Amino acid sequence: MVRILIGVVVGLVLAPLAVMGWLRMGHPPVAVADAALPFEQQIVRVPMRARIDKEKPAAAPIQPSEDNYQAGAEIYKNECAACHGYHGKPSDFATHMFPRAPQLWQTHRDGKTVGVSDDAPGETYWKVANGIRLTGMPAYKDILTETQMWQVTLLLANADKPLPPAVVELVNGRTPVAVPVAAAAPAKAVKK
Ligand code: HEC
Repeated sequence: MVRILIGVVVGLVLAPLAVMGWLRMGHPPVAVADAALPFEQQIVRVPMRARIDKEKPAAAPIQPSEDNYQAGAEIYKNECAACHGYHGKPSDFATHMFPRAPQLWQTHRDGKTVGVSDDAPGETYWKVANGIRLTGMPAYKDILTETQMWQVTLLLANADKPLPPAVVELVNGRTPVAVPVAAAAPAKAVKK
């Protein structure tokens, strides 16, 4: 009995001391360039999956349309492209992040899926709204409106489908040339 007690006390004192010692002297990975801890990915992924499955909205409150894609592409250019890249133009620093920021216009090895086009829109919406802790993926719910978050979500969900030419220009990282105001007269000439 006494031995067990001594064992418990020693364990209670020594284990935290050993952990403290390792944290201070053992070179645990803190740099982006360091290798991941064993199970680091799983520790984050498993609870995140469970949480998203529980909370993701079942359906989008807006429909995919040319206007919504266009708005989504503008939002993507302003808020997301720096990390997630453009079609054919990956982000400069995404591979120098830990974890890496996935390139959302890159076609997967199956030759069909583009970025997160294989994920349920509700899942992508959840990630955009809530962010992903300890990864650099921001939470946009206080930055974008609900409609804006759905617009960019629907664009990404349909990244494997044909998109309107103006939207393709934006996701290719090219800004469509704006018609200068002076050249816009007579107004009729520039109307579609
Ligand atoms: C500062 C960099 C950064 C910005 C800006 C950013 N993200 Fe992310 N995002 C990340 C990182 C890093 C991950 C990877 C997280 C992980 O590994 O779990 C990620 C993950 C994601 C994922 C999940 C990808 C997958 O494969 O499951 C989606 C979807 C996403 N981001 C969408 C967006 C959208 C939409 C925007 C703009 C509104 C945006 N992100 C802005 C860094 C960023």
